[in-house]
Amino acid sequence: MSTTFQLDTSTSRANPTPAPMKRLTVPSIRARKQDGVTAEPLVMLTAYTARQAQLLDAHCDLLLVGDSLGQVIYGLPSTIPVTLRMMADHAAAVVRGSYHSVVVVDMPFGSYEASPQQAFDSASFLLKESGAAAVKLEGGAAMAETVAFLSQRGIPVMGHVGLTPQAVNVLGGYMARGRSDAEADKIVTDAKALDEAGAFAIVIEGVVEPIAIAATKAVSAPTIGIGASAQCDGQVLVTEDMLGMFERVPRFVKKYGNIAEVIEQTAKAYADEVRARAFPGSEQTYQPK
Ligand code: KIV
Repeated sequence: MSTTFQLDTSTSRANPTPAPMKRLTVPSIRARKQDGVTAEPLVMLTAYTARQAQLLDAHCDLLLVGDSLGQVIYGLPSTIPVTLRMMADHAAAVVRGSYHSVVVVDMPFGSYEASPQQAFDSASFLLKESGAAAVKLEGGAAMAETVAFLSQRGIPVMGHVGLTPQAVNVLGGYMARGRSDAEADKIVTDAKALDEAGAFAIVIEGVVEPIAIAATKAVSAPTIGIGASAQCDGQVLVTEDMLGMFERVPRFVKKYGNIAEVIEQTAKAYADEVRARAFPGSEQTYQPK
């Protein structure tokens, strides 16, 4: 899958960013945490489409093709129904739209849990189809063997502990984790197991702040928080949440924009002009020469 093609026409919307940059690498991301210190926090956002990737790329270190696309793009009730095909196609679009960020693609539910071999087959499919550099999978100590298996065979893995949305049916909901001693211990133990197995970074999601800090201190790989702590080595948000696309978002989201209002107002302006026969105007219509 080439990411360097150019459709060189003035009407093409597929043109990649006009000023290509050198892409960051997984080792360069891993190396941002040295002796437990990350001088410059890692910036990660989700991306699902080429145009979104183009707009986000220069501002991020990592673009995550999250399985949250199930809810955000497809209107599914959870991430459970998301398929490898969906992930591969969206990841390929994000790779085509980016030059700078490391693109990480989520392994969907059911594509990696059965065995390290199943995980390798699914991860290699995702990387071959998309050109992404790394995969992310959910789960801690139970996934350590799989993380080691993939990492030792050329597939960089980002871990994901704490609130793991693919386990919603076991967890019983999307509430914050780590409030009991047992849960807190498990989160830190899980993070350590992934670190020792070779994960190059670990997402910590929906975890009470002291436990997110403890897990960050306990591992050598950078942690990337979402609903965790500013003391994590980096942060991630779902882009549509951060842009203000949805009225209802988790408590940990900060809305940096109000894109839903912009879209609604813009659609209304268009609809009003169509109904008034004010669009298309003379600038948008062709006349005989
Ligand atoms: O699927 C996703 O978008 C994620 C992030 C929220 C970390 O896993």
